[in-house]
Amino acid sequence: MQYPTVTTKLVILLGKPLGHSVSPQMHNLAFEKLDLDYCYMPVEVAPADLQTVFNGLTRMNVVGFNVTIPHKINIIKYLDKLDPLAATIGAVNTICVRNGKTIGYNTDGEGFLQSLESEAHITPRGKRFFLLGCGGAARAISMTLAHHGAKKIFICNRTLSKAEKLTTEINEKIADCAITVPQNAANRADILQECDVLINTTSIGMHPKENALPIEESLIGKHLTVADIVYNPLTTQLLKVAKDRGCATVHGLGMLVNQGAAGFRLWTGIEPPVKEMFATVFSAMNTV
Ligand code: ATR
Repeated sequence: MQYPTVTTKLVILLGKPLGHSVSPQMHNLAFEKLDLDYCYMPVEVAPADLQTVFNGLTRMNVVGFNVTIPHKINIIKYLDKLDPLAATIGAVNTICVRNGKTIGYNTDGEGFLQSLESEAHITPRGKRFFLLGCGGAARAISMTLAHHGAKKIFICNRTLSKAEKLTTEINEKIADCAITVPQNAANRADILQECDVLINTTSIGMHPKENALPIEESLIGKHLTVADIVYNPLTTQLLKVAKDRGCATVHGLGMLVNQGAAGFRLWTGIEPPVKEMFATVFSAMNTV
């Protein structure tokens, strides 16, 4: 490992808490592997200090940032420019500093799409998706799917009003393709029959409540590709059931690695070693 010097380019992860994050291992491994003089560093920041810390860091040798909970929305007001997809999503997870100007991007949805394509050979254009959940991840994924030409996006959430709000936003901002599905609707089975991909974006099934399922087992038909954004455990109960029923499956670790890989490309302009990054995250997950 080479030690940082005054010319080392810094990439900073802003969030709180960050103790669980595997991004530092993933990116520092990639920098080292390609012999790049970069260093990725997690910096925990409370919301009240975000502006001061961000402004200070942009005056250092910082070329980029990752932004995570709870700053993905609030950081936007401190940026010089916003990529159109990030503006549509309304949240930023990646920032580039170019010629002293900060530009915000959102690579979460692109990371998911990449993982869907590499693991299940599915591209969104013309496809029908059924999304469970309506938080920040669902927002990035659904807007990115709509942006890439998804034919229909059915959104089903515990709190119906949130699904309705997201549906309206997608239809107004990108394309008229989103539909809210009430969680108790008897027609969910019929809708799922018409869908190509089922995506769980809720935290249901995450360690330590690993036995929980975000949807009734009987609704998972074998024609579906089933994706889960939960990555701990890697094979969630949903993915186990889906595999047993003959479905193709996509685990959540790919989204994590691919959103990072997209950031790496933006900061460096260089293709990252995605396979090694994946292996690093997989082993780091068991140690943090
Ligand atoms: P993130 O930003 O990581 O996507 P989030 O904003 O906390 O996470 O969103 C979590 C999503 O999972 C929400 O849609 C939430 O439903 P509500 O909008 O009703 O809160 C959903 N979720 C979490 N736990 C759930 C549970 N036990 N049952 C049903 N939905 C759940």
